[in-house]
Amino acid sequence: MNKRIKGFSKLSKEAKMEWLVQSYFNGDGTKIEELKDYWHKDPKRQSLHDEFIENSLSNFFIPYGVAPNFVINGKDYCIPFAIEESSVVAASAKAAAFWSERGGFKSEVLSMRKIGHVHFTWAIDPQKVRTFFYDIKQELFKGTEDLTANMRQRGGGIIDIELIDRSDIESNYFQLKGIFETRDAMGANFINSILERFSSIWRDKVESSQVFSEKEKESLLIIMCILSNYSPECIVRSEVSCKVEDLFNGKGDFPAELFAEKFKQAVRIATIEPYRATTHNKGIMNGIDAVVIATGNDFRAVEACAHTYASRDGQYRSLTRCTVEEGVFRFWIEIPMALGTVGGITNLHPMVKFSLDLLGHPSAEELMQIISCAGLAQNFGAVASLVTTGIQQGHMKMHLMNIMNTLECTHEEKAQIIEHFKTDTVSVAAVTAVFKSIRGKATKPS
Ligand code: MEV
Repeated sequence: MNKRIKGFSKLSKEAKMEWLVQSYFNGDGTKIEELKDYWHKDPKRQSLHDEFIENSLSNFFIPYGVAPNFVINGKDYCIPFAIEESSVVAASAKAAAFWSERGGFKSEVLSMRKIGHVHFTWAIDPQKVRTFFYDIKQELFKGTEDLTANMRQRGGGIIDIELIDRSDIESNYFQLKGIFETRDAMGANFINSILERFSSIWRDKVESSQVFSEKEKESLLIIMCILSNYSPECIVRSEVSCKVEDLFNGKGDFPAELFAEKFKQAVRIATIEPYRATTHNKGIMNGIDAVVIATGNDFRAVEACAHTYASRDGQYRSLTRCTVEEGVFRFWIEIPMALGTVGGITNLHPMVKFSLDLLGHPSAEELMQIISCAGLAQNFGAVASLVTTGIQQGHMKMHLMNIMNTLECTHEEKAQIIEHFKTDTVSVAAVTAVFKSIRGKATKPS
């Protein structure tokens, strides 16, 4: 049977579900109940969520947790995380508590500039393009004043416009590069609207110019106008540091000097070895993405930007660095990220509003500081485990609940299994064996 359909988006939600069930689930109506089971009990709230995207049928839950005890620039935060991976919140909370007793995190936004381009090709003498650009540059500012008025009032707007000749990588390829400040907005719509206006001003000015021949005019081809999610000038730096001897947490028997040395080497390996760098940065993004999602920001943009930045010198490297010098352990992250605390879904999604409330309604700048610290904490937790106990101990402890839920353990069985694995190593096989023995005992006739 052909499973294609025209006009799907125009169908009602009920009709969409019906079509899905008929086409993909052999008419099994229980599938509709499965979707409805995750609808919000309040129809108004449900329709709010439905209206975020096209063809919405239900909601997809992921846990929303908090990591308390973050001290950033002397201020206390309890940071919200939206994530499904068992150990992420636990690791961040542990690292936050550890550093709260060692001076906390220091964080600084170095710059908040964002970039976008009008990409075009033009088969004429590059010097003529340059001269033309300088002739009309002010018109580009003037012709976008209506679009920038509100942003200028808030202290943002277009910082500069540059002409970039990229004929070194593609013949006749140029860019109009806009540099923007978008204050507390992520700014994608603002930037894209301005770029599209730049392109029409550029085209109109070329058309009406006496400088170019008809042939030259015809060879101008505007390819596209779009912000760049690579924003190396929208960047934050966060750091923790303490005396090496203070790294000892009073528990266990791992000497502080050995810990510092192994930790530094682990970060060094992630700086020089891309296989390790990828996993190391994935750990950082565990923390970053979770807070980006909880605060209603675009984690795909933040991810893409982070990875481009991690490879800025031609090799993919760690986003964090560590030094141990003169008895001081220093660990830091430098990461670009474009965030918003106004616009988008920030004042629509109830849980995003809750997150921003919990964080004390931060500016975009403060949110960059908070989120980079969540990434740094996450990386500290992961690397600290890797160089001491190994990652599986903590991971499997947190994963225990998932294993028990897969086995459909009762409340009482869970309590017994958790007690058992306070001392034993967690694995799927070991948990299954303990579960079977508990259930076996329970069902044996007395
Ligand atoms: C797992 O989600 C993340 C880690 O692999 C990160 C790392 O290895 O640094 C634990």
